[in-house]
Amino acid sequence: MQSCRKATTRISAWPTTDRWVTGIVVVALLALTSWLLPAGHAAEPAPLRPDDVAVFMRAKLDHSSEVLEGLSLADFEKIRRGGQLLALASQASSWQVLQSEEYARQSVAFRRACERLERAATEKNLDAAALAWMDVTMKCVQCHRYVRDQPGR
Ligand code: HEC
Repeated sequence: MQSCRKATTRISAWPTTDRWVTGIVVVALLALTSWLLPAGHAAEPAPLRPDDVAVFMRAKLDHSSEVLEGLSLADFEKIRRGGQLLALASQASSWQVLQSEEYARQSVAFRRACERLERAATEKNLDAAALAWMDVTMKCVQCHRYVRDQPGR
């Protein structure tokens, strides 16, 4: 209860533009969620994909929730950490599912967006962080669309 009250106090103290921007991010995120997951996941078995890759990929959702929570509560440390974990994930070997130039290009673009998010959080700029987060989620969607469109997937 204590933490609830704290959060409410903080939200009501926000300038209107911050609330507006965060509102847009939340709505956009809901709209993007249906696009986010690569299609056909639940439906078809993927014998070539080791489980640990799926677990690794799923962890991106946890980091994403941390960012969104941070944006919602103006908790810059949460935003920064979520962005950092996402950027780090994109450098791990489990990330390298496809060996194509386009996949590498999309991975770099994703990492840059995460780094912009981290920077905005470090500078405690909530608007910049919210915009950078929208950019990050667009990169999730774009890469998943690319992966889906590959033959044999
Ligand atoms: C550069 C490419 C790329 C980016 C960017 C990317 N992903 Fe993924 N994601 C993948 C690949 C590849 C898979 C595995 C698809 C497959 O196995 O067919 C995947 C799978 C997933 C899965 C499904 C895991 C499972 O199998 O259950 C989730 C959830 C996911 N990503 C979340 C995210 C989120 C959230 C973001 C953005 C914060 C993101 N991804 C950004 C490439 C990417």
